[in-house]
Amino acid sequence: MRIVETGPDGALFAAWCEVWAAAQRADRPGERPRPAREHVALGRRLTTPGGAQRGTHRAAVDGGRVVGALRVLLPVRDNTSVAYLDVAVHPGARRRGTGTALLTEGLRLAAAAGRTTAVAEVDEPGPGTAGRAFARTAGWTCDLQETRRDLLLPADEERLAALEAAAAAASAGYEVVTWRDRTPDALLEDRALLSRRMSTDAPTGDVPVDEEVWDGARVREMEALVLDRGRTVLSAGALHQGRLVAFTDLHVPLEQPERANQSGTLVLREHRGHRLGARIKAAVVRELAATMPQVRRISTYNADSNRPMVVVNEALGFRPAGGLSTWSTRISP
Ligand SMILES: CC(C)(COP(=O)(O)OP(=O)(O)OC[C@H]1O[C@@H](n2cnc3c(N)ncnc32)[C@H](O)[C@@H]1OP(=O)(O)O)[C@@H](O)C(=O)NCCC(=O)NCCS
Repeated sequence: MRIVETGPDGALFAAWCEVWAAAQRADRPGERPRPAREHVALGRRLTTPGGAQRGTHRAAVDGGRVVGALRVLLPVRDNTSVAYLDVAVHPGARRRGTGTALLTEGLRLAAAAGRTTAVAEVDEPGPGTAGRAFARTAGWTCDLQETRRDLLLPADEERLAALEAAAAAASAGYEVVTWRDRTPDALLEDRALLSRRMSTDAPTGDVPVDEEVWDGARVREMEALVLDRGRTVLSAGALHQGRLVAFTDLHVPLEQPERANQSGTLVLREHRGHRLGARIKAAVVRELAATMPQVRRISTYNADSNRPMVVVNEALGFRPAGGLSTWSTRISP
Protein backbone atom coordinates (compact mmCIF):
# COMPACT_ATOMS: atom_id res chain seq x y z
CA MET A 1 0.00 0.00 0.00
CA ARG A 2 1.32 3.45 -0.95
CA ILE A 3 0.16 6.89 0.14
CA VAL A 4 0.17 9.44 -2.68
CA GLU A 5 -0.75 13.09 -2.97
CA THR A 6 -3.85 13.90 -5.00
CA GLY A 7 -5.42 17.26 -5.78
CA PRO A 8 -9.13 17.89 -6.42
CA ASP A 9 -8.44 17.89 -10.18
CA GLY A 10 -6.03 14.92 -10.08
CA ALA A 11 -6.54 11.55 -11.78
CA LEU A 12 -7.17 9.76 -8.46
CA PHE A 13 -9.68 12.19 -7.04
CA ALA A 14 -12.86 10.53 -8.33
CA ALA A 15 -11.74 7.30 -6.62
CA TRP A 16 -10.79 9.31 -3.51
CA CYS A 17 -14.38 10.67 -3.39
CA GLU A 18 -15.78 7.17 -3.94
CA VAL A 19 -14.03 5.97 -0.76
CA TRP A 20 -16.03 8.54 1.19
CA ALA A 21 -19.25 7.60 -0.60
CA ALA A 22 -18.70 3.87 0.10
CA ALA A 23 -17.91 4.60 3.78
CA GLN A 24 -21.06 6.71 4.11
CA ARG A 25 -23.23 4.09 2.39
CA ALA A 26 -21.92 1.45 4.82
CA ASP A 27 -22.47 3.65 7.89
CA ARG A 28 -25.86 5.10 6.94
CA PRO A 29 -27.42 2.76 4.36
CA GLY A 30 -30.69 4.73 4.28
CA GLU A 31 -29.02 7.95 3.10
CA ARG A 32 -27.47 8.96 -0.19
CA PRO A 33 -23.79 9.83 0.35
CA ARG A 34 -22.44 13.29 -0.21
CA PRO A 35 -21.86 13.91 -3.95
CA ALA A 36 -18.26 14.13 -5.22
CA ARG A 37 -18.91 17.76 -6.14
CA GLU A 38 -18.82 18.66 -2.44
CA HIS A 39 -15.28 17.28 -2.04
CA VAL A 40 -14.07 18.81 -5.31
CA ALA A 41 -15.33 22.30 -4.43
CA LEU A 42 -13.86 22.16 -0.92
CA GLY A 43 -10.61 20.74 -2.31
CA ARG A 44 -10.26 23.56 -4.85
CA ARG A 45 -10.94 26.13 -2.17
CA LEU A 46 -8.32 24.58 0.14
CA THR A 47 -5.68 24.48 -2.57
CA THR A 48 -6.29 28.04 -3.81
CA PRO A 49 -4.21 30.58 -1.87
CA GLY A 50 -5.82 33.48 -0.07
CA GLY A 51 -8.69 31.72 1.72
CA ALA A 52 -9.45 31.28 5.40
CA GLN A 53 -8.32 27.63 5.24
CA ARG A 54 -5.80 25.67 3.22
CA GLY A 55 -5.36 21.97 2.92
CA THR A 56 -4.10 18.90 1.15
CA HIS A 57 -5.30 15.40 0.21
CA ARG A 58 -3.72 11.95 0.17
CA ALA A 59 -4.92 8.66 -1.29
CA ALA A 60 -3.97 5.20 -0.03
CA VAL A 61 -3.45 3.04 -3.10
CA ASP A 62 -3.32 -0.74 -2.92
CA GLY A 63 -2.95 -2.92 -6.01
CA GLY A 64 -3.80 0.06 -8.23
CA ARG A 65 -7.05 0.82 -6.31
CA VAL A 66 -7.70 3.78 -4.04
CA VAL A 67 -8.70 2.21 -0.72
CA GLY A 68 -8.31 5.13 1.67
CA ALA A 69 -8.69 8.91 1.75
CA LEU A 70 -7.14 11.64 3.89
CA ARG A 71 -7.89 15.37 3.94
CA VAL A 72 -5.84 17.76 6.06
CA LEU A 73 -7.50 21.11 6.66
CA LEU A 74 -5.47 24.00 8.10
CA PRO A 75 -7.12 27.19 9.36
CA VAL A 76 -5.13 30.28 8.33
CA ARG A 77 -6.81 33.28 10.01
CA ASP A 78 -7.25 31.76 13.46
CA ASN A 79 -6.54 28.47 15.21
CA THR A 80 -3.18 28.31 13.49
CA SER A 81 -1.96 25.60 15.88
CA VAL A 82 -4.78 23.25 14.84
CA ALA A 83 -5.12 20.79 11.94
CA TYR A 84 -8.42 19.09 11.12
CA LEU A 85 -8.02 15.55 9.77
CA ASP A 86 -10.62 13.54 7.83
CA VAL A 87 -9.80 9.86 7.32
CA ALA A 88 -11.87 7.16 5.60
CA VAL A 89 -11.08 3.65 4.46
CA HIS A 90 -13.20 1.71 1.97
CA PRO A 91 -15.38 -0.82 3.87
CA GLY A 92 -13.83 -3.65 1.82
CA ALA A 93 -10.29 -2.73 2.86
CA ARG A 94 -10.56 -2.16 6.61
CA ARG A 95 -8.59 -3.65 9.54
CA ARG A 96 -5.37 -3.86 7.52
CA GLY A 97 -3.67 -0.80 8.95
CA THR A 98 -4.65 1.64 6.15
CA GLY A 99 -6.51 4.00 8.50
CA THR A 100 -3.55 4.05 10.89
CA ALA A 101 -1.13 4.77 8.03
CA LEU A 102 -3.27 7.67 6.79
CA LEU A 103 -3.64 9.06 10.29
CA THR A 104 0.13 8.92 10.79
CA GLU A 105 0.62 10.72 7.47
CA GLY A 106 -1.95 13.36 8.46
CA LEU A 107 -0.14 14.00 11.76
CA ARG A 108 3.17 14.24 9.92
CA LEU A 109 1.75 16.79 7.46
CA ALA A 110 0.17 18.73 10.32
CA ALA A 111 3.46 18.84 12.24
CA ALA A 112 5.29 19.95 9.10
CA ALA A 113 2.80 22.83 8.84
CA GLY A 114 3.66 23.82 12.42
CA ARG A 115 0.44 22.51 13.99
CA THR A 116 0.49 21.15 17.54
CA THR A 117 -3.08 19.82 17.85
CA ALA A 118 -5.12 17.60 15.56
CA VAL A 119 -8.94 17.43 15.61
CA ALA A 120 -11.20 14.89 13.88
CA GLU A 121 -14.92 14.10 13.83
CA VAL A 122 -16.55 10.68 13.89
CA ASP A 123 -20.08 10.19 12.57
CA GLU A 124 -21.90 7.75 14.85
CA PRO A 125 -25.20 6.47 13.47
CA GLY A 126 -25.40 4.10 16.45
CA PRO A 127 -23.23 2.65 19.23
CA GLY A 128 -19.99 0.79 18.49
CA THR A 129 -18.78 2.60 15.36
CA ALA A 130 -15.43 1.72 13.79
CA GLY A 131 -14.44 5.41 13.97
CA ARG A 132 -14.78 5.52 17.76
CA ALA A 133 -12.78 2.29 18.26
CA PHE A 134 -10.16 3.55 15.83
CA ALA A 135 -9.78 6.95 17.53
CA ARG A 136 -9.56 5.28 20.95
CA THR A 137 -6.90 2.84 19.75
CA ALA A 138 -4.93 5.73 18.30
CA GLY A 139 -4.93 7.32 21.76
CA TRP A 140 -7.07 10.34 20.90
CA THR A 141 -9.40 12.00 23.45
CA CYS A 142 -13.15 12.47 22.95
CA ASP A 143 -13.78 16.19 23.63
CA LEU A 144 -17.37 16.66 22.51
CA GLN A 145 -20.44 14.49 22.06
CA GLU A 146 -23.27 15.79 19.91
CA THR A 147 -26.65 14.24 19.11
CA ARG A 148 -28.07 14.47 15.64
CA ARG A 149 -31.79 15.20 15.50
CA ASP A 150 -34.02 14.97 12.44
CA LEU A 151 -37.27 16.80 11.72
CA LEU A 152 -39.46 15.00 9.20
CA LEU A 153 -41.29 17.30 6.79
CA PRO A 154 -43.89 18.59 6.31
CA ALA A 155 -43.75 19.79 9.91
CA ASP A 156 -46.78 19.36 12.12
CA GLU A 157 -48.82 22.51 11.42
CA GLU A 158 -50.45 22.77 14.84
CA ARG A 159 -47.11 22.42 16.65
CA LEU A 160 -45.42 24.97 14.38
CA ALA A 161 -48.24 27.52 14.65
CA ALA A 162 -48.30 27.24 18.47
CA LEU A 163 -44.53 27.72 18.66
CA GLU A 164 -44.64 30.72 16.30
CA ALA A 165 -47.41 32.40 18.27
CA ALA A 166 -45.63 31.93 21.62
CA ALA A 167 -42.27 33.07 20.19
CA ALA A 168 -43.75 36.14 18.47
CA ALA A 169 -45.49 37.17 21.72
CA ALA A 170 -42.20 36.90 23.65
CA SER A 171 -40.17 38.88 21.09
CA ALA A 172 -42.13 42.03 20.31
CA GLY A 173 -39.68 44.69 19.10
CA TYR A 174 -37.80 42.23 16.89
CA GLU A 175 -38.45 41.79 13.18
CA VAL A 176 -37.83 38.50 11.34
CA VAL A 177 -36.08 38.66 7.95
CA THR A 178 -35.20 35.85 5.52
CA TRP A 179 -32.73 35.67 2.62
CA ARG A 180 -31.24 33.05 0.36
CA ASP A 181 -27.56 32.42 -0.49
CA ARG A 182 -26.33 35.99 -0.12
CA THR A 183 -26.52 37.99 3.11
CA PRO A 184 -27.90 41.46 2.32
CA ASP A 185 -25.00 43.96 2.15
CA ALA A 186 -26.45 46.05 4.97
CA LEU A 187 -26.34 43.03 7.33
CA LEU A 188 -22.94 41.65 6.30
CA GLU A 189 -20.80 42.91 9.19
CA ASP A 190 -23.47 41.89 11.71
CA ARG A 191 -23.51 38.42 10.14
CA ALA A 192 -19.70 38.23 10.50
CA LEU A 193 -19.98 39.03 14.22
CA LEU A 194 -22.59 36.26 14.58
CA SER A 195 -20.15 33.74 13.03
CA ARG A 196 -17.42 34.91 15.38
CA ARG A 197 -19.72 34.45 18.38
CA MET A 198 -20.84 31.07 17.04
CA SER A 199 -17.26 29.82 17.38
CA THR A 200 -17.21 30.58 21.13
CA ASP A 201 -20.84 30.51 22.30
CA ALA A 202 -22.02 27.19 20.86
CA PRO A 203 -20.77 24.59 23.37
CA THR A 204 -17.60 22.94 22.07
CA GLY A 205 -16.87 20.77 25.09
CA ASP A 206 -13.12 20.33 25.50
CA VAL A 207 -12.27 20.65 21.79
CA PRO A 208 -9.03 22.68 21.81
CA VAL A 209 -10.10 25.44 19.42
CA ASP A 210 -10.15 29.24 19.88
CA GLU A 211 -12.41 32.03 18.68
CA GLU A 212 -12.58 32.37 14.90
CA VAL A 213 -11.83 35.65 13.16
CA TRP A 214 -14.63 36.71 10.81
CA ASP A 215 -15.26 39.78 8.68
CA GLY A 216 -17.61 40.50 5.78
CA ALA A 217 -15.09 39.18 3.22
CA ARG A 218 -14.93 35.81 5.01
CA VAL A 219 -18.73 35.58 5.03
CA ARG A 220 -18.69 36.14 1.25
CA GLU A 221 -15.95 33.49 0.89
CA MET A 222 -18.07 31.00 2.83
CA GLU A 223 -21.14 31.84 0.72
CA ALA A 224 -19.19 31.27 -2.50
CA LEU A 225 -17.84 27.92 -1.25
CA VAL A 226 -21.30 26.71 -0.30
CA LEU A 227 -22.66 27.56 -3.78
CA ASP A 228 -19.65 25.82 -5.40
CA ARG A 229 -20.46 22.75 -3.33
CA GLY A 230 -23.86 22.66 -5.02
CA ARG A 231 -25.90 23.81 -2.06
CA THR A 232 -28.46 26.55 -1.60
CA VAL A 233 -28.77 28.21 1.80
CA LEU A 234 -32.00 29.49 3.30
CA SER A 235 -31.45 31.88 6.18
CA ALA A 236 -33.62 33.64 8.72
CA GLY A 237 -32.56 36.34 11.15
CA ALA A 238 -33.91 38.72 13.76
CA LEU A 239 -33.47 42.49 13.51
CA HIS A 240 -33.37 44.81 16.49
CA GLN A 241 -33.21 48.53 15.67
CA GLY A 242 -31.98 47.62 12.20
CA ARG A 243 -29.14 45.38 13.42
CA LEU A 244 -29.01 41.61 12.82
CA VAL A 245 -28.87 40.01 16.28
CA ALA A 246 -29.70 36.37 15.46
CA PHE A 247 -29.41 34.02 12.50
CA THR A 248 -30.10 30.47 11.41
CA ASP A 249 -28.86 28.80 8.19
CA LEU A 250 -30.31 25.76 6.41
CA HIS A 251 -28.21 24.09 3.72
CA VAL A 252 -30.01 22.17 0.96
CA PRO A 253 -27.87 20.09 -1.46
CA LEU A 254 -29.42 20.82 -4.87
CA GLU A 255 -28.55 17.36 -6.27
CA GLN A 256 -30.19 15.66 -3.27
CA PRO A 257 -32.75 18.14 -1.98
CA GLU A 258 -34.63 15.58 0.10
CA ARG A 259 -32.35 16.24 3.08
CA ALA A 260 -31.41 19.64 4.46
CA ASN A 261 -28.86 20.40 7.18
CA GLN A 262 -29.17 23.05 9.83
CA SER A 263 -25.70 24.53 9.79
CA GLY A 264 -25.81 27.10 12.56
CA THR A 265 -28.14 29.09 14.80
CA LEU A 266 -27.15 31.85 17.18
CA VAL A 267 -28.80 34.62 19.16
CA LEU A 268 -26.39 37.26 20.47
CA ARG A 269 -26.00 36.90 24.22
CA GLU A 270 -27.55 40.30 25.00
CA HIS A 271 -30.72 39.38 23.05
CA ARG A 272 -31.39 35.97 24.57
CA GLY A 273 -34.48 35.14 26.61
CA HIS A 274 -37.02 36.38 24.01
CA ARG A 275 -37.55 33.04 22.23
CA LEU A 276 -35.78 34.40 19.15
CA GLY A 277 -34.12 31.02 18.52
CA ALA A 278 -37.54 29.36 18.18
CA ARG A 279 -38.89 32.25 16.14
CA ILE A 280 -36.18 32.26 13.48
CA LYS A 281 -36.03 28.47 13.25
CA ALA A 282 -39.80 28.34 12.71
CA ALA A 283 -39.42 31.09 10.07
CA VAL A 284 -36.83 29.14 8.12
CA VAL A 285 -38.95 25.96 8.28
CA ARG A 286 -41.85 27.99 6.81
CA GLU A 287 -39.59 29.42 4.12
CA LEU A 288 -38.40 25.94 3.23
CA ALA A 289 -41.96 24.60 2.94
CA ALA A 290 -42.92 27.53 0.66
CA THR A 291 -39.87 27.44 -1.64
CA MET A 292 -38.50 23.86 -1.52
CA PRO A 293 -41.33 21.47 -0.61
CA GLN A 294 -39.26 18.55 -1.95
CA VAL A 295 -37.13 18.62 1.26
CA ARG A 296 -38.29 15.67 3.41
CA ARG A 297 -36.01 16.03 6.41
CA ILE A 298 -33.85 18.53 8.29
CA SER A 299 -30.89 17.26 10.33
CA THR A 300 -29.27 19.26 13.12
CA TYR A 301 -26.42 18.54 15.56
CA ASN A 302 -26.31 19.78 19.13
CA ALA A 303 -23.93 19.25 22.01
CA ASP A 304 -25.71 17.26 24.69
CA SER A 305 -24.96 20.13 27.10
CA ASN A 306 -26.71 22.70 24.86
CA ARG A 307 -30.10 22.52 26.59
CA PRO A 308 -31.54 25.82 25.25
CA MET A 309 -31.04 24.72 21.62
CA VAL A 310 -32.18 21.15 22.26
CA VAL A 311 -35.41 22.42 23.89
CA VAL A 312 -36.16 24.59 20.83
CA ASN A 313 -35.47 21.69 18.47
CA GLU A 314 -37.61 19.25 20.39
CA ALA A 315 -40.46 21.78 20.49
CA LEU A 316 -40.21 21.96 16.70
CA GLY A 317 -40.49 18.16 16.51
CA PHE A 318 -36.82 17.16 15.94
CA ARG A 319 -36.07 13.60 17.15
CA PRO A 320 -32.70 11.89 17.90
CA ALA A 321 -31.02 10.11 14.95
CA GLY A 322 -27.51 9.12 16.05
CA GLY A 323 -24.56 11.22 17.02
CA LEU A 324 -21.31 12.92 16.15
CA SER A 325 -18.20 12.94 18.33
CA THR A 326 -15.15 15.22 18.12
CA TRP A 327 -11.72 13.92 19.06
CA SER A 328 -8.29 15.50 19.45
CA THR A 329 -4.67 14.70 20.11
CA ARG A 330 -1.50 16.68 20.77
CA ILE A 331 1.09 16.41 18.03
CA SER A 332 4.59 15.84 19.23
CA PRO A 333 7.13 17.71 17.12
C1 LIG B 1 -12.13 4.39 11.20
C2 LIG B 1 -11.49 3.87 9.89
C3 LIG B 1 -10.79 5.02 9.19
C4 LIG B 1 -10.48 2.77 10.29
O1 LIG B 1 -9.79 2.32 9.11
P1 LIG B 1 -8.96 0.94 9.12
O2 LIG B 1 -8.08 0.92 7.93
O3 LIG B 1 -9.88 -0.19 9.32
O4 LIG B 1 -8.08 1.13 10.45
P2 LIG B 1 -6.86 0.22 10.97
O5 LIG B 1 -6.83 -1.08 10.25
O6 LIG B 1 -5.63 1.04 10.90
O7 LIG B 1 -7.29 0.00 12.49
C5 LIG B 1 -6.44 0.30 13.58
C6 LIG B 1 -7.07 -0.16 14.87
O8 LIG B 1 -8.27 0.58 15.15
C7 LIG B 1 -9.20 -0.30 15.82
N1 LIG B 1 -10.38 -0.50 14.98
C8 LIG B 1 -10.57 -0.07 13.72
N2 LIG B 1 -11.79 -0.43 13.28
C9 LIG B 1 -12.39 -1.12 14.29
C10 LIG B 1 -13.65 -1.74 14.44
N3 LIG B 1 -14.56 -1.76 13.45
N4 LIG B 1 -13.94 -2.33 15.62
C11 LIG B 1 -13.05 -2.34 16.63
N5 LIG B 1 -11.80 -1.77 16.53
C12 LIG B 1 -11.49 -1.17 15.38
C13 LIG B 1 -8.49 -1.61 16.01
O9 LIG B 1 -7.81 -1.57 17.26
C14 LIG B 1 -7.51 -1.61 14.86
O10 LIG B 1 -6.41 -2.44 15.05
P3 LIG B 1 -6.56 -4.06 14.79
O11 LIG B 1 -7.22 -4.22 13.47
O12 LIG B 1 -5.14 -4.53 14.80
O13 LIG B 1 -7.38 -4.60 15.90
C15 LIG B 1 -12.58 3.23 8.99
O14 LIG B 1 -13.34 2.32 9.74
C16 LIG B 1 -13.52 4.25 8.38
O15 LIG B 1 -13.28 4.74 7.30
N6 LIG B 1 -14.65 4.62 9.11
C17 LIG B 1 -15.55 5.67 8.63
C18 LIG B 1 -14.91 7.06 8.73
C19 LIG B 1 -14.42 7.39 10.15
O16 LIG B 1 -15.09 7.14 11.13
N7 LIG B 1 -13.22 7.98 10.25
C20 LIG B 1 -12.56 8.22 11.52
C21 LIG B 1 -12.09 9.62 11.67
S1 LIG B 1 -11.04 9.71 13.13
